[in-house]
Formats: sequence, C-alpha cells, structure tokens
Amino acid sequence: MENKFKRTLVTCALPYANGPVHIGHLAGVYVPADIYVRFLRMRGEEVLYVCGSDEHGVPITIQAKKRGCSPQEVVDEYHHIIDESFKGFGINFDIYGRTSSKVHAENASAFFKKLLDDGKFITKESEQYYDPEAKCFLADRYIVGTCPKCGAEGAYGDQCEKCGSTLSPEELINPKSKLSGAEPIKKKTTHWYLPLQDYEQWLREWILEGHKEWRPNVYGQVKSWLDGGLQPRAVTRDLDWGIPVPVEGAEGKVLYVWFDAPIGYISNTMELLPEDWEKWWKSEETKLVHFIGKDNIVFHCIVFPAMLKAYGDGFILPDNVPANEFLNLEGEKISTSRGWAVWAHEYLQDFPGKQDVLRYVLTANAPETKDNDFSWKDFQARNNSELVAIFGNFVNRAMVLTHKYFAGVVPPLGELQDIDREAIGQLPQLKESIEQNIRAYKFREALKDAMNIARIGNKYISDTEPWKVAKTDMDRAASILNVCLQICAALSTVFEPFTPFAAQRLRQMLDCTLDWDKIGSLEALAEGHQLRPAELLFEKIEDAQIDAQLARLDSIRKAREEEAARQAASVVAPQKEEVSFEDFEAMDIRTATVLEAERVPKTDKLLKLTIDTGIDHRVIVSGIAQYYSPEDMVGKQICILANLAPRTIRGIESKGMILMARQADGKMRFITPSEVLSNGAQVG
Ligand code: 2FM
Ligand code: ZN
Repeated sequence: MENKFKRTLVTCALPYANGPVHIGHLAGVYVPADIYVRFLRMRGEEVLYVCGSDEHGVPITIQAKKRGCSPQEVVDEYHHIIDESFKGFGINFDIYGRTSSKVHAENASAFFKKLLDDGKFITKESEQYYDPEAKCFLADRYIVGTCPKCGAEGAYGDQCEKCGSTLSPEELINPKSKLSGAEPIKKKTTHWYLPLQDYEQWLREWILEGHKEWRPNVYGQVKSWLDGGLQPRAVTRDLDWGIPVPVEGAEGKVLYVWFDAPIGYISNTMELLPEDWEKWWKSEETKLVHFIGKDNIVFHCIVFPAMLKAYGDGFILPDNVPANEFLNLEGEKISTSRGWAVWAHEYLQDFPGKQDVLRYVLTANAPETKDNDFSWKDFQARNNSELVAIFGNFVNRAMVLTHKYFAGVVPPLGELQDIDREAIGQLPQLKESIEQNIRAYKFREALKDAMNIARIGNKYISDTEPWKVAKTDMDRAASILNVCLQICAALSTVFEPFTPFAAQRLRQMLDCTLDWDKIGSLEALAEGHQLRPAELLFEKIEDAQIDAQLARLDSIRKAREEEAARQAASVVAPQKEEVSFEDFEAMDIRTATVLEAERVPKTDKLLKLTIDTGIDHRVIVSGIAQYYSPEDMVGKQICILANLAPRTIRGIESKGMILMARQADGKMRFITPSEVLSNGAQVG
C-alpha cells in the first residue's frame, strides 16, 4: 500500500512524576515505542519522539502532603529520576518535557480558552465531597473508606487497590477525608464539561469504521465505551495544584490533569520546535502514533481526539494507538504504592551494562495481547540460554575463529555449498517479517524473527564446524567464516531496535555501519575488511544476583503480610448487647489447672483436657488444638466457665468451657490469673 505519510510523530504516555518508572511502564509503553522509533530511523524515516513528565494530579499533592513539601519539589525529584532512567535504557526522546513548564501552562490554558470561547464546553453544578475541616473540595483520591465490593479498608474514592474495582466516592462505606480524617460532606460546585456524547457518532465512524486494524484490545475497549453511551466529562477540578482555569471567578479551580496531560504532547513539541511544531501536529502527511498502557485507552482514543476535534484548526488524530496490557511481577499486580515493582533506576544500578537484557526480556514477554508476567527466573533463563547461549555464543565463535585463522580479516568467500545457501537464504524473508511485524506493532514477533537469525547462525557454525575444517581445508573454513560474519553483520542491524547497546558493540567489533539493505546479502562485509578484537556481547547472570532480587521481593511480601495481620488484629469486634448483673452473676467462672491433655483422635481442632477445678476433676473438650499442643497445656492455670451445661463432643462428655481471648485475625490465647491462685477461685 502506498504510504501517504512523510513523517512519524511518536508520543509515549507522560509518566506521572509521583514515583519512579518500573518494568511495567517500560514493557507497556517505552520499550515498544523505542523499538518502533529506532527501527524507523534505521530505515531513514523522519521521526519525532516526544515524551515528558505528567506533573499534575492528586497523587502528587498527596505525596507532597505526606512528605511535608511542595508538589513542585516532588515532581522535580521524580522528573529527574525518570528522565535519567529512560536515558539509562537508551530511550532517548527528542524532548522529555514536563507539564509544570511555562510553555505548557500557556498552551494548555490557551487550548481551554479557545474551546470555552468557541462554546465547546457546558457547565454543570453538582454536589461533591467537601472536607469541612480542611475547607476544600476533595478529589476522589482524597477520600478513603471501606470498599463496598471486597470490604478492604483504605479504598480510594475512585478505585480499590485491593480488588481493582472502579468506585465512586459515594459507594465507599465510612468515607473519610485523607486530609483531616473528617467525614466529608456534600457541597455544590460548578465545573466545565466536554460533552463527549456530541462526538460519539464521529468517533464511531473514525475508529469503529475507519480503524478496524487497531489492536483488538484497543478497538474493543473503544467499542464498549461507545456502546455504553458517552457522558459529559469534567475538564476542571477543585484543587490547588495544576493549571488555573483561565476564567474570572474560577479561583481554586484547575484544569483536570487528564485535560492538560495530553496537550502536554503538543506543548513539548512546541518547546522543542517553537517554529516548526505545526508540521508535526497539523499535517496530513504526519503519522501520529500514541504508545500507552491499557488504562490510558479511553483518554487517547476518545477524550483527547474529541478535544482535538472540538478545537479544529487542522490537528491530526492518531493513526494508531498500540496500547499494551499490563505486566505482572512474579504473579502479582505491580503496585507503586505497595512497592511491588522492579524500578528502572534500581535495575540500572543492580545490573550495570545489562540494559539490553531487560529490554530483551520485556519484549520477548511483552503484554501485547494479554497481561503477562515478569519473573526473575525467566529473566535469568532468557539471558543465559538465549542471549548468551545463542546470540552471544554465535558471534563470539565467528569472531574468535576469524581472529585465530585469519588475523581478524574477513576471509574470502569461495564457491557456495547448499548448507551456506540454505543458511543465508533464510535471511531475506526474516528481514521482511521483522519489518512487517514492527510496522504492525508486533514487537514480540519481530524479536522472534531477529532471534531466529541468531539461531540460524548458531546452527550453521555448529553444523559446519569451521574449527575442524580449518585443519584440512582452509579455503572452505574461510568461506564458512565469511558466511558467519555476514550473519553477524545482519544481527548487528536487526538487533539495533531491540538491544541497541549490544548491536552497537557488535558493529564496533565488525567495524561496520547499520545497513538494512545488506541484510541477507553476502556483501555486508567485504573480503579483506579488518575486524576489531572480539568481546563478549552478553554475560551469564548468576543465581546469586537473581536470589538477591527474589529476597528483596520476599521481604516486601512479608512486610505486607505482617501489616495486613496487624491491621486485621487491630479490628475490634463490636460490643454485644447489654446483659443484666444477674445474668453475669449466674455464670460460675473459676480458676482451674490442667492435669492432663491429649488430642481428640481424628480431629485437628480438639483437645481433651482433664482439669482440677478445686471442686472436682473433670474433662473439658476444647477447640484449641490449632493454638496449643497438649504439652503446652499441662500444668497451666486457666479460667473456666464451670456451670455450662455438659455437652457430648465426639463421644466425650465435656463439662464446662475454657475461657479464651480471641483476636480479630482468629488468634486465640487462654486466660490466666496474673499470679497462680488456688484452683476453684471464683472470677467476677
Ligand atoms: O497513566 C499515566 O501514567 C498518565 N500520567 C499518562 C498520561 S498520558 C498523556 F496523556 F499525557
Ligand atoms: Zn475492594
């Protein structure tokens, strides 16, 4: 198909500057985008690669409050960490801007103003939660309470992190303000809304009719939003952190973070190219591609396009929005707030020089069509048995043998044999497939194709055994190594998008440049070309490094479990109904000592205790075997309810009950006097 585009504008979701980026971000958005951009550039296409920090929104203000600093200080810190992390992984945007910049404030403000002046908004008065003590409206994230779906404490007004349900603040049980702890009240407030329903038909035609090629997860989400009917969406909030609403009398109101953030893509382009930005945003010859995670689909496929459509003035719309699903970590959802993540900046410290390994593993396992899991064992296995054992091993054998037999000079290619033709003959089709897959945003498949070239090389050198052939036929060994080196050159090109550091090192060793057109030809490296010394492309990752990572995760898991147990234990059962003094007096509670104890056969819970009550020796059957062994109980002084009507339990007559204190998490302990008393002493 004739390509109508002359250039490509690639945007990556602007990460919130309220925490560092983690492997979920890298796998979902930034590594695939980087593969795409590197590939297009390698093919000589004109690309602009835009990202930046998303520095508004409630979580940032919450974090600032927690730390006792300003939101600006929070975003300054994380903006820097995130920026450095991207660079560390070789993700080099043309601009990594920030939404707290002046350019963006002016641009977003002007964008809002134009929509307002053009009559594109409606205003609505609604009742929203208000903190009567802190005297401010509460954004959904500022309200916490019990989740109505799963009963977890600490669910937010917009979401329960425990069960993942989307909530509204009204649904929370016992809502409390996160600011003051006060019970929020409802108060009237007015906001501006974009009437999304007015764009429904247009969105249907544009996406559901016009973009059937979009990923099924993206297309499906858009369809279900549209089928569910669109509603007006508020574009302002009552908050003191953000871009002020540029309307007189709107003090205390700011643009909603999801209104200003996508405009950030445009602002960042303007900041980079103040004279030339329109070429990227307002030309039908520009292909716009948004790389995002699945939680951002509605904003990039419905809300932002509707904003641009409302604005008019020639803004282009995305040609594709290749959103990924989520990456889990060791079987659990990644969570910034719970610390369950592998942070990009920490990885760079823990695995210096191994950026490519993570890029490779995250691509091989990319959550392109469904959620996927990252595990450290898989990471190690993919490094050791794929990058090291296949790619690295092949390159190393080819390089070392060429140095050994031909002083590092590309040897001449003699007459080709079938095995040579077969190996090299597979490359053009794989090259084609890599290109098609990358252009179709199928990066996993493209990586498989690239790795298959390394497999072909590895098999070829194993089958042809040039180290043996060299003993008897140096001309044939020369041909074999020539073919191997041509495959190495192909690898140094096809891996450029995926593992750019290794690809570059390989090109340095081969002393060659990126040359897509020469892949699969026998001319990538000319006879007589001098190679540089061989280096290892990849190193094995040892168990100790993996164990250290697993131990870190384990300690997070343990700390979380302990905290959950503490929380469960701190819940106190509500007081029972009142009883009269007479009712209480009727109970004969006494001290007693356990004389003998044994498990009741075929039960897990029951102990049969023979006790001295001071009145008699009797048997009580008690459900405490989970908490005490028979040996624990013998000799202990306890308290019993002596006049409880006898009951037969498992064929044993039980006379009375042992008094136990039961914690909310189920843990039980017997009650004992503060010092040993005579048996039969009355309690009351
Ligand atoms: O989900 C997020 O992390 C958002 N900060 C993404 C914003 S993308 C764009 F619209 F700015
Ligand atoms: Zn829940």
